[in-house]
Amino acid sequence: MTKPKHPKIKTLVDGSLFTKQDVRQNLTNHLFSLFDGDIVFPEVLSESPYVLANFVKTVDGIISFSDVKGRDGGGEISGFNTEDVFIMGLLRTLADAVLVGANTLRIEPKHKWTPEFIFPEAKVAFQEQKQREKINKKGEYINTFVTLSGSVPFEAPVFSDPNIKTIVFTTKDGAENIKNSGQKPDNVIIEIVFKDNFEKEVLRILRQKYSVKILLVEGGPKVFGSFLSHNLINEIWLTESPILAGNSREANRPTLVMGEVFHPDKAPKLKIISEKYNFDEKENSTGDYRYFRYKVVYPE
Ligand SMILES: NC(=O)c1ccc[n+]([C@@H]2O[C@H](COP(=O)([O-])OP(=O)(O)OC[C@H]3O[C@@H](n4cnc5c(N)ncnc54)[C@H](OP(=O)(O)O)[C@@H]3O)[C@@H](O)[C@H]2O)c1
Repeated sequence: MTKPKHPKIKTLVDGSLFTKQDVRQNLTNHLFSLFDGDIVFPEVLSESPYVLANFVKTVDGIISFSDVKGRDGGGEISGFNTEDVFIMGLLRTLADAVLVGANTLRIEPKHKWTPEFIFPEAKVAFQEQKQREKINKKGEYINTFVTLSGSVPFEAPVFSDPNIKTIVFTTKDGAENIKNSGQKPDNVIIEIVFKDNFEKEVLRILRQKYSVKILLVEGGPKVFGSFLSHNLINEIWLTESPILAGNSREANRPTLVMGEVFHPDKAPKLKIISEKYNFDEKENSTGDYRYFRYKVVYPE
């Protein structure tokens, strides 16, 4: 029998940059001890949600073995690390909705962006946390997808799960393609957004129409890059996996930010909120993974 996975996280740095007015998440005792600390977000008063991004990368910055068919998901980068998937589940619990690019959905069509899907071992603890926050009383999760083309694999199981509200943000042309495909299940919501102001509009609609205060962006790097270039990402939760993936022109493996380049004077800067590590029980020592939580600071 395999042993249930149990995350072992220890804190190296926890220098919260937030003030006394910020909202304490008040993790339940169980989650507090698993995460080795609390999580604080600022109060959301703006017309846009507070946006977290979550990724795992190799030490050389690669986020997918994209050229290796069937092994191109994020799990291969983390080596299916227990602490990484626990943090993914924790963030999905605290967020009101998860947003993913259409390409990630096309590459991982069997995935569901819920806490228990990624880390079933802590399902009860995640549900207790949701109840404590009195969010999503109906027990419903919101998974949102962004596509310009309207090319969406509607046969993916996420679209038929009664516990997940699915919203697809697309352009007028994308919506036309979806309609013509005749594949969209009735329960899937389509939101049509102008291409020019796409990213900002998506966030405005999520906040105003769906009451999303905390949004979790789970990639991929093209969608992350486009939101980042519009100064819309507030935090990056980044796991650094202790491997080197390498790269070449032929393999063309993606790094964390794709499709955007920043001038040296305009590059977003990162400030550490917390840094944690895994604990290696066998060796009784610091593990080799690092779990960073960064605040993003955009130059004027
Ligand atoms: N290591 C990790 O933590 C991690 C996390 C997530 C994903 N991944 C990996 O990343 C890879 C996929 O990443 P990706 O960068 O190719 O794709 P992506 O960011 O997941 O999706 C890109 C697609 O999103 C749509 N889109 C909508 N609005 C957009 C905008 N403003 N800018 C750009 N795209 C927009 C477009 O879809 P249409 O083509 O339909 O128009 C575009 O092709 C996969 O291998 C996945 O496993 C890794």
